[in-house]
Amino acid sequence: MRMLRLPGITFLTLAFVIQAGTAGTWCYDSQDPKCGPLHWKDIMITCGGENQSPINIDRRKTQRDRNLDEILFEGYDQAPPGRWRLINDGHSVVMNLDGASAADQINITKGGLQDTYRALSFHFHWGDLSRNGSEHTVDGQQYPMELHIVHMNTKYKTITEAKGHPNGLAVLGFLFKVSDADNTNYNTIVTGLRNITRAEDYVELASTFSLSNLLPNMALLSKYYRYKGSLTTPNCEEVVQWTVFEENIPISKTQLNAFVNTLYYKSAGTTSLKMTNNFRPPQPLHGRKVYASRDATVSRGSLLAVNHLFPLLLAVLIGQLSGPS
Ligand SMILES: *[C@@H]1O[C@H](CO)[C@@H](O)[C@H](O)[C@H]1NC(C)=O
Ligand SMILES: *[C@@H]1O[C@H](CO)[C@@H](O)[C@H](O)[C@H]1NC(C)=O
Ligand SMILES: *[C@@H]1O[C@H](CO)[C@@H](O)[C@H](O)[C@H]1NC(C)=O
Ligand SMILES: [Zn+2]
Repeated sequence: MRMLRLPGITFLTLAFVIQAGTAGTWCYDSQDPKCGPLHWKDIMITCGGENQSPINIDRRKTQRDRNLDEILFEGYDQAPPGRWRLINDGHSVVMNLDGASAADQINITKGGLQDTYRALSFHFHWGDLSRNGSEHTVDGQQYPMELHIVHMNTKYKTITEAKGHPNGLAVLGFLFKVSDADNTNYNTIVTGLRNITRAEDYVELASTFSLSNLLPNMALLSKYYRYKGSLTTPNCEEVVQWTVFEENIPISKTQLNAFVNTLYYKSAGTTSLKMTNNFRPPQPLHGRKVYASRDATVSRGSLLAVNHLFPLLLAVLIGQLSGPS
């Protein structure tokens, strides 16, 4: 098949893609493996690049960067005014944040970021009833769900302009863990899911909340990993400064199952498919470095044990040498 791909045919395919746009041409394997993540690079050449996301974060191979201090979160503790519209965009559940006036901007700066980045929207990736669905993995482990808060460099005027620059976007990634109790801060969103079962449905949320309500305790957010990557959906532009936090967001199994069970993808013909496993698997690092913030954990298991054991062993030895003879 590959041998038959003449330049003329490639050109035709490209022309088709440009004409059709990308909106309807990509999907997840749970919709149709023929347009799933393995084929995105055929639809959009950037998806086959060398700086793609998500990745596996191998904590033994991260490099400590002491410049990665605390991120300054501005406006994260205030409920943004205006409409809180939750949308089923056919791939995920999305909340737009950018309606607020300039004075009420939600933004991040510091934490090794050279510029100020304004929050535009957030969305989620999840698995199914028996499978975890985060995009980033840590030490090879996938988590049940992942939250992405997308920010745009305030140097640029539009998201299209930002997507043309390597430092155009900053995305914050948070991994969820299953807790026994409900995370009541997620009640408004979880309840709203029932109103947006079909693609392009939206609902104005009954109550507003601050973004920090959705996150782990802000005091624990100095522990994170940073690397240069891409958007995890086509066109997979390599313009993202990624921050993946070490601290997890708790959510109950019932709340998690509401994401897995309630929503549907854009229907293809007459069949409606449940929106499950809407994640892209980890992509090759291709020599990229992953940096650990000042406070992040850089190793675990045996390495961590050695770090703690060595001083202990020394203490025991010294104790024996200097003990009564
Ligand atoms: C960042 O957000 C704060 C508070 O929401 C706002 O006062 C400030 O002007 C924003 N900064 C930029 C550069 O947008
Ligand atoms: C799914 O995630 C949980 C953490 O909440 C973890 O304990 C479990 O091992 C993960 N399962 C798989 C198959 O990775
Ligand atoms: C959302 O759906 C519930 C029923 O599940 C309904 O009672 C409620 O009015 C709907 N809310 C909106 C804003 O449409
Ligand atoms: Zn995402």
